[in-house]
Amino acid sequence: ALHYSFARKSQNQHQTSRNVLQVKASFKVAILGAAGGIGQPLALLVKMSPLVSDLHLYDIANVKGVAADLSHCNTPSRVQDFTGNDELANCLKDVDVVVIPAGVPRKPGMTRDDLFNINAGIVKTLIEAVADNCPDAFIHIISNPVNSTVPIAAEVLKQKGVYNPKKLFGVTTLDVVRANTFVAQKKNVKLIDVDVPVVGGHAGITILPLLSKTKPSVAFTDEEVHDLTVRIQNGGTEVVEAKAGAGSATLSMAYAAARFLESSLRALDGDSDVYECAFVESQVTELPFFASRIKLGKKGVEAVIASDLEGLTEYEKKGLEALKGELKGSIEKGVAFAQKQT
Ligand code: NAD
Ligand code: LMR
Repeated sequence: ALHYSFARKSQNQHQTSRNVLQVKASFKVAILGAAGGIGQPLALLVKMSPLVSDLHLYDIANVKGVAADLSHCNTPSRVQDFTGNDELANCLKDVDVVVIPAGVPRKPGMTRDDLFNINAGIVKTLIEAVADNCPDAFIHIISNPVNSTVPIAAEVLKQKGVYNPKKLFGVTTLDVVRANTFVAQKKNVKLIDVDVPVVGGHAGITILPLLSKTKPSVAFTDEEVHDLTVRIQNGGTEVVEAKAGAGSATLSMAYAAARFLESSLRALDGDSDVYECAFVESQVTELPFFASRIKLGKKGVEAVIASDLEGLTEYEKKGLEALKGELKGSIEKGVAFAQKQT
């Protein structure tokens, strides 16, 4: 079987090894925004997953060709395309996980919040359809600004009476992927061993890497901590500027989204050792949503690892206090948008 695996260690640094040949493809996955810059490479990675039986690709245009192309790959999953609002309900029926990268990306000079006016409405409409057609699915939100789109999704699901906070995730895996890569490069350690928790949110200073909690333990100078933190926080902008108007991270994002999806599917399949960072409803701070390391299980978030916020360095404590104002504002903006629309 064709198989990929995502290089990372689980919480206890003992990687769960699963025999690919024993895995039965049985999960249905929908990607909304599947013809886009993230959607296409993500669809390819998902097509390679041995856990997926059905791959539903939805977009407002151009998705037929993507699906026809992918469907020729001789991997187990069946690929189907769905175009436009009339086909959205069918796309979502009986789906186990919905991944949402629909929406516009940044251009140089923009913040993620500058995408709010367009993407808030897109996410709202898509989540209404998710609520009506697959309310039990895990929902992975990639569309920016994640700090606001996740609260929007929560409000819409509440309004529909189907909100399950354990199954709604803002995808922050790319922050962890970047942190692991940049730390391994800077400290010349083996990439496969590095795991840095990244907490807070997914924009600028709300992205807070907890370098003191890097596993295995790595010693950093104050200057290294500062340089790495700033680079991780600006990773998205680094790509936006390099692409010079042609969009934001798509390939690394597809990789990160595929990793988070694979972890979710392993959890749904009964693996009891699955940990990822994600932006979820939370009680670890006074903010209603916060990205933390979470334990994933069959029912979604099984535990939020609050202990990651204990014993922080002074630098991390300052970073945590500094991010709260912006993150609170972004969450409230999302909630207000969703409430105003009813
Ligand atoms: P893109 O423009 O290449 O693709 C977006 C796709 O969404 C397009 O195919 C478009 O047709 C589709 N779309 C638009 N409106 C839609 C609707 N109502 N229903 C379904 N599909 C719709 O953009 P991209 O580079 O793939 O980025 C998508 C989003 O992901 C952006 O908001 C970007 O900021 C975000 N992003 C998030 C992260 C993260 O870490 N969470 C990382 C990278 C990008
Ligand atoms: C990223 O972190 O790459 C994404 O959020 C896209 C962006 O706008 O930076």
